[in-house]
Amino acid sequence: MGLSWGYRDPSVDERAGIALIQDAIDLGVDHFDTADVYGPFTNEKLVGRALAGRRDRIVLATKVGLVVEDAATYRYGRNGRPEHVRASCDASLSRLGVDDIDLYYLHRVDPVTPVEETWTAMAGLVAAGKVRWLGISEPSVAELDRVSAIHPVTAVQSEMSLWTRDHLEDVVPWCAAHGAAFVAFSPLGRGFLTGAIGSGARFGPEDFRSKLPRFRPEAVAENQLLVERVRALAERRGATSAQIALAWVLSRGEHVLAIPGTQRRRYLEQNVAAAEIVLSPEELAELDRLPAPVGARY
Ligand SMILES: NC(=O)c1ccc[n+]([C@@H]2O[C@H](COP(=O)([O-])OP(=O)(O)OC[C@H]3O[C@@H](n4cnc5c(N)ncnc54)[C@H](OP(=O)(O)O)[C@@H]3O)[C@@H](O)[C@H]2O)c1
Repeated sequence: MGLSWGYRDPSVDERAGIALIQDAIDLGVDHFDTADVYGPFTNEKLVGRALAGRRDRIVLATKVGLVVEDAATYRYGRNGRPEHVRASCDASLSRLGVDDIDLYYLHRVDPVTPVEETWTAMAGLVAAGKVRWLGISEPSVAELDRVSAIHPVTAVQSEMSLWTRDHLEDVVPWCAAHGAAFVAFSPLGRGFLTGAIGSGARFGPEDFRSKLPRFRPEAVAENQLLVERVRALAERRGATSAQIALAWVLSRGEHVLAIPGTQRRRYLEQNVAAAEIVLSPEELAELDRLPAPVGARY
């Protein structure tokens, strides 16, 4: 996402983005996550170009259901209507340059269209051979029960990290009980947990984080307490804060995956290496004692 949308660094051009994705595949990363709304549309094209000739080595995920109303101010709407789902899937296949999508997510439940109608249309895409598995992003357990009665949920993608623990008591166990993966998005707290965002950091309107309460100047300053505690543990372990944040997410269950995003080879290497870190019970307990963050997620 970050290569095209949200936190895009204009100095990282398309060629560099493609090379980074290909480096990731060479390092063993086998799951890539995009969405039609990232860009909008440009991230799917980027991912498609990067995967050409490498498609069979990865699990490719994209999403439908969010529509950009104003890209400059990050204003979104939701659309889960069956005709929108079908047309969007064809458009994603074409931008990605693939015959099928491994994992197709509903990006957000549309409050106007009953989720059963959206999910039935998505199940139709599986029957048509355009999609292999279905996923859903940021659902409630009640919504998971409703959709899984129609077609199995293969993955739930919701935010989870050291400072976003909302789903640990409900959705994460639901996934374990139903054979679904829990895919943690923003596992680095959109970069905050890595320590790279100091108390003086300010985000311009082109950066999505400028819209989020947790990234307002006063919250960024107060939440440094969290960052310092993660950094202290990382230093003792000889790891980076990013690696500790990822290792914590991966410790939440065999069925829990992390999908960190980066635009830099150095971070990519660090994040891949985090998969080897196993935190001790004492370290996990220390991380569980971190204070709750200041500021809401959205
Ligand atoms: N379903 C949804 O609604 C939803 C919402 C948000 C995201 N997502 C998915 O989740 C993926 C990841 O989420 P995300 O990008 O929001 O958050 P993230 O992975 O928590 O954080 C990304 C940020 O962390 C920085 N970073 C990455 N590795 C680092 C390291 N080792 N050290 C220091 N800084 C590091 C990146 O900087 P650089 O960019 O400078 O490398 C970027 O600013 C996205 O690509 C997207 O596919 C889904």
